Amino acid sequence: MLKSKPKTTFACSQCGGQFPKWTGNCSACGAWNSLNEEMLPSPNAVQNKLGRHTGFAGEQSQIQHIANIQLTVQPRISTGLLELDRVLGSGLVLGSVILLGGDPGIGKSTLLIQALSYLSQHHSVLYVTGEESLQQVAQRAKRLELSADKINLLAETQIEQILLLANHHQPQIIVIDSIQTVFTELFSSAPGSVGQVRESAAQLVRFAKHTNTILFLVGHVTKEGTIAGPRILEHMVDTVLYFEGEQDSRYRLIRAIKNRFGAVNELGVFAMTDKGLKEITNPSALFLSKHTDAVPGSVTLATMEGTRPLLVEVQALVSQSYGQNPRRLAQGLDQNRLSMLLAILQRHGNVSIYDQDVFANIAGGIKISETASDLALLLAIISSLKNKPLPNDLMVFGEVGLAGEIRPVQGGQERLREAEKQGYKKAIVPFANNPKAAFKNLEINAVKLLKDALSLC
Ligand code: TYD
Ligand code: MG
Repeated sequence: MLKSKPKTTFACSQCGGQFPKWTGNCSACGAWNSLNEEMLPSPNAVQNKLGRHTGFAGEQSQIQHIANIQLTVQPRISTGLLELDRVLGSGLVLGSVILLGGDPGIGKSTLLIQALSYLSQHHSVLYVTGEESLQQVAQRAKRLELSADKINLLAETQIEQILLLANHHQPQIIVIDSIQTVFTELFSSAPGSVGQVRESAAQLVRFAKHTNTILFLVGHVTKEGTIAGPRILEHMVDTVLYFEGEQDSRYRLIRAIKNRFGAVNELGVFAMTDKGLKEITNPSALFLSKHTDAVPGSVTLATMEGTRPLLVEVQALVSQSYGQNPRRLAQGLDQNRLSMLLAILQRHGNVSIYDQDVFANIAGGIKISETASDLALLLAIISSLKNKPLPNDLMVFGEVGLAGEIRPVQGGQERLREAEKQGYKKAIVPFANNPKAAFKNLEINAVKLLKDALSLC
């Protein structure tokens, strides 16, 4: 049966989907001209080559009852960067594999060398660099004034060689910078191709799980082209962290997209300085623009990023449209949701907006994906439309339903507490989020319907 397996496969460079035949477009993700031929190694060859590293192959597996599994408390290892620990779910877990993705130049190598410098004080660490020379890495560590004398470096791109050395030296923490530069000799395709990235990662992950090593994989996110992005690795690893941030801003956000050991959507905030990445412990202050006077079209929203409340500024600009179709543009917010909210406003708020262009934005380049931003966005739109500022000590959150009702969101207490902490005096919130105990310095207006909220503004 094994013999009848094809020796090559066609893999989509966009989504990683595999097909036995070449087609012009990928039937999984719809991308055009994205299928590349990849070698499929024969199963025996893989088994022989990897026998030593896989470990699983030779061991007799057994079925066990769940009640008989010994539960061990997983100790957490701090990276020395509290914001990174936060997105990891309060530190690293032994044997876990973390994918760190982001645009080239955003700070992945900087972050990891900083973390390794701390971790190397108590753990053996190995930094494998496939992009920079040993000189460059050591230079950077020196320039960042890190105590890096215990970090072991390796400039190597062949997986088999990396695993051989890792097996010999048994580091507790390995960083591969980056997964797109390493290759396995099992495949003849170039480093960075889908097959290479996937197979190299698979070998590394097997090694990490078998030896209980913590493994960081650095992956560049590329918009398109022949280099395989880290998305194809997401299912193989325990934790996926993505760097976000504008190229022209010095702030860097790290978000957990997937985490088997903690909450997803957790956010870590850093600033890139000449001494590397510095943690920002009070990010609410960062995303609020410092208007001394209230301005029309600006509303403060309390959003939840994972388990952390964060105050951000929702901005809207409404202006007379001269085109046939008025424009609706959203930055950092969902465009379709904006259109839907405008329809709700038209219907339940009795506001005519069909002949107006509407632009919406979240200040500071952050992306909000939760529906709790609905009410703040609508109030910002109304404020801009009427050219009437809302008080700048007002905070708003709440989901708006199609019937014009204000629906509750999770984390109401935390949002209110953060607003009070940052000196806000008033809040408009969903009725079901009205706290049982009053807040000392925060006047809370709990509303059931959109029109109730509009009547307060
Ligand atoms: P880097 O960590 O090399 O990015 P990546 O590994 O994600 O490709 O970061 C490179 C950028 O960061 C580069 O544009 C210079 C900047 N940088 C600083 O501003 N300060 C610093 O201390 C360091 C090390 C880098
Ligand atoms: Mg780098």
